[in-house]
Amino acid sequence: MKEIQCCAVSCEKPLDAAYWEAQYKAKTTGWDLGKVSPPIQTYVDTISNKNSSILIPGCGNSYEAEYLLEHGFTNITVIDIAPTPVAVLKEKFKNNPNIKIILGDFFEHQGKYDLIIEQTFFCALPPTMRQKYVWKMHQLLADEGKLAGLLFNRTFEVSPPFGGSKEEYEMLFAIAFDFLKMDLCPNSIAPRANSELFFELKKNNQVDVNLYEFSGITSSDCIESVTKKFAAIDGILNVSISSNFAEVLIVSKNEIAIEALQNAISHDKKFKIKK
Ligand SMILES: C[S@@+](CC[C@H](N)C(=O)[O-])C[C@H]1O[C@@H](n2cnc3c(N)ncnc32)[C@H](O)[C@@H]1O
Repeated sequence: MKEIQCCAVSCEKPLDAAYWEAQYKAKTTGWDLGKVSPPIQTYVDTISNKNSSILIPGCGNSYEAEYLLEHGFTNITVIDIAPTPVAVLKEKFKNNPNIKIILGDFFEHQGKYDLIIEQTFFCALPPTMRQKYVWKMHQLLADEGKLAGLLFNRTFEVSPPFGGSKEEYEMLFAIAFDFLKMDLCPNSIAPRANSELFFELKKNNQVDVNLYEFSGITSSDCIESVTKKFAAIDGILNVSISSNFAEVLIVSKNEIAIEALQNAISHDKKFKIKK
């Protein structure tokens, strides 16, 4: 599994633009396949609307975007926080009006897409950001939009990449998305065989998905009680707390007033929630 490691030690430093840029500069880009990911290629071949608006976040060298362009897609956006791959893509596609190449932070990006393609972006983010990822994906998708691609179904000793499991993803994306597919991928590249899930999720546009800052949880013991208190509020359909206890993702029938959320946890004065 060495091929997907991007640094020799577990990363305690922030996984920010400087970190990723340093990997590109040092060419420690073991995740880079040098060609379109076969499962993504298979999936793209099933899409008939060539004018679908498609986003690829954390695109890197984005052979997936190249494949889309070669197959007639006309509305592609790619974004990466590291200048080096963005400069390469800008040069490569400088005369192509069908692709927009953005240097920037996915979490600051605004837009609406029919499809967002996941290819080793989720696993590159600190696990503390997983709730934010779900919230942002929901925000960026059009009403009938889909999020599709690959997620690891294993853990790693050295990270990034950060692994996960089908059970974890089912809880994380629950209700905010309808699960069209999340199965062991049959055509992963050899080093990733049997360790990737191919998934296709459709935005649930009947619900509100909100992300809140949270403080006061000091141990995992409190998570269950806080989750239960929120889940008991009428209209709340799913609650997910980030692994550093700093963010709460709430999926609800309608937006819940912040006062109602704060009241639900008022039994402990330490607990504070804000949008
Ligand atoms: C493991 S690499 C994967 C690159 C590409 N998807 C591939 O499969 O070759 C993760 C990529 O995400 C980018 N990235 C990390 N955090 C980001 C953020 N917040 N916004 C945009 N890109 C980000 C990194 O610069 C890096 O190119």
